[in-house]
Amino acid sequence: MKVLLFGANGQLGNDLHKVFRAAGDTVVPLTHAQVDVCNEQRVAEVLGEAKPDLVLNTAAFHKVEECEKKPELAFQVNASAPMKLAAACQRSGAVLVHFSTDYAFGGYSKSTPYEETDRPAPLNVYGVSKVAGEDLIAYNTDRYFVVRVCGLYGIAGSSGKGGNFVENMLKKALAGDAIRVVDDQVLTPTYTVDLAEAVRKLVLSGKSGLYHLSSEGQCSWYEFTRYIFECAGLQANLSPCKTTDFFSPVKRPAYSVLSKAKLRGLGLSIPTWKDALPRYLKEREAKNSAAAPVPATV
Ligand SMILES: NC(=O)c1ccc[n+]([C@@H]2O[C@H](COP(=O)([O-])OP(=O)(O)OC[C@H]3O[C@@H](n4cnc5c(N)ncnc54)[C@H](OP(=O)(O)O)[C@@H]3O)[C@@H](O)[C@H]2O)c1
Repeated sequence: MKVLLFGANGQLGNDLHKVFRAAGDTVVPLTHAQVDVCNEQRVAEVLGEAKPDLVLNTAAFHKVEECEKKPELAFQVNASAPMKLAAACQRSGAVLVHFSTDYAFGGYSKSTPYEETDRPAPLNVYGVSKVAGEDLIAYNTDRYFVVRVCGLYGIAGSSGKGGNFVENMLKKALAGDAIRVVDDQVLTPTYTVDLAEAVRKLVLSGKSGLYHLSSEGQCSWYEFTRYIFECAGLQANLSPCKTTDFFSPVKRPAYSVLSKAKLRGLGLSIPTWKDALPRYLKEREAKNSAAAPVPATV
């Protein structure tokens, strides 16, 4: 399969690149510096040059607080660009995989996992712009996978968010900081390697449409943080707190767990968040020891 990848430098983009390449696909990775997905003409050019079977779009404007201040930019990157990309894919015959978010939900209360058939009710500009992107893709092509994901962490870290949650918590613990984490927001943290592998299998199923895809299980951010320190063998000064303890200009869902029943209906699965984290820490350790300077021999 020939694959064109937008947002190749991001944490999900990095792992999609590795997973598809390892499976024998030809991947053309494109970074933001090489192609801005908002540049319709440039996107058409690269599609025409590469003639991909599959386009993976991880590019997004997902700094949620910035999205509140710059709604036009949020809609440009998260809705208008995917719409144009979908139309270009439809013209060229490529299948489009686009990533959306658990922040599609939160506007009404639910305490069981959201199905793809549940009505979206985003609470912030980021969520609204991503849901608009989903609909505009479905309107412009019939060969698409829109994959709603949740709580991503991967070895490359999110360039948009300055690292990832696991790295930020480890850094604070090693610095001896007092760490307070909310225990009233429940989600599913998701390792981008597991996600990338599941995405490839989903594409190969040929059953296009809207999918929910995060690790299995659920936890609060506090429970996840406790597990990070347990797996890393760190004694940290960690305590739980409530969302209302911090001021934020952005509303976030209290519960945004995504049901994987539709995925399981295809005979596919993804590991649990508890299974994933130790594998991430191993990958991280291997990366850090490869980067460590070789001691001078006497
Ligand atoms: N991270 C999460 O927890 C999370 C949760 C739910 C959904 N998602 C969705 O999952 C997807 C992947 O997220 P991620 O965590 O992998 O993000 P990421 O690490 O920040 O990667 C996004 C990539 O897109 C690039 N990009 C941004 N704007 C672009 C533009 N206009 N044109 C071309 N490239 C652009 C970024 O490059 P620069 O940094 O150089 O701008 C970055 O390399 C996104 O669609 C996001 O909305 C993420």
